Amino acid sequence: MTATAAAPAERPVQHPSPRWWQRPWILPLALFSVTFLLYALPPYLGLDPAEARLPVPEGLAWYYPLLVTHIFGGALLTLLVILQVWPWLRSRHPAVHRWSGRVYVLAGIPLVGVPALLIAPFSGSGTSTQVSSVVWAVLWLSFTVIGYRMARRRRFALHREWMLRSFALVYGIAFNRVIIPVLMLAELPRLESVHGGDLHALGTAIAPASGFLSWVLPLLFVEWWLKYRRPRGRRPRVAAAA
Ligand code: HEM
Repeated sequence: MTATAAAPAERPVQHPSPRWWQRPWILPLALFSVTFLLYALPPYLGLDPAEARLPVPEGLAWYYPLLVTHIFGGALLTLLVILQVWPWLRSRHPAVHRWSGRVYVLAGIPLVGVPALLIAPFSGSGTSTQVSSVVWAVLWLSFTVIGYRMARRRRFALHREWMLRSFALVYGIAFNRVIIPVLMLAELPRLESVHGGDLHALGTAIAPASGFLSWVLPLLFVEWWLKYRRPRGRRPRVAAAA
């Protein structure tokens, strides 16, 4: 993302460009993202509501087109996040970083965030999941807008922080596919005693927890990283400014 305002502000943080093996997480992140997309997208490629993994509510003609828009837009965002956090690309090709950042924000809001907010209240997984998804969508929209505004104001350290929070929420959906089997396995010993031997009932019981943890845990991870793990040179100079 870029800045046009002439406000006195920080310079974009310049770091020596690390080799890819000094950032060994970028390859696993890319593999995880592509594997998730290969699993998540196929049921929606035929544009047939009957193939959807979610129950499509009856009588809402707009729901399925919006869901599909959200999913294809979400696939784009997932790939753009990899470009945005790849240190080598950021330092060697800053123009690619700026342009893909603009697409992330300006396409992500209408294609992913707003549709998510509109479909969230109609989740078939119950009120708790609906509330969790609405909060998730509102936070993603808010973090993304704040991050974009920080870049426009040339507050680059804060821009990085808010965009990392936004990226964490994008990964909520992929992380959901990790958390569901973990919760299923944890609950399996109580399949007979609590869920009457019904796997579907067990799945329904863990849905609110999995929906909530999917986006809260990646967000907590980013908060921990920003506070305790980030290289010193990349911390915003809040104390100094104060
Ligand atoms: C950026 C934050 C995101 C929010 C707030 C969000 C929100 C939602 C909501 C509310 C639903 C409906 C859930 C239900 O009815 O129970 C949904 C479904 C879905 N979303 Fe997202 N989403 C986000 C990002 C993404 C991304 C990046 C992708 C990547 C492709 C994606 C792919 C999907 C898919 C595939 C479904 C249908 C569920 C399924 O097939 O399992 N979402 N999302």
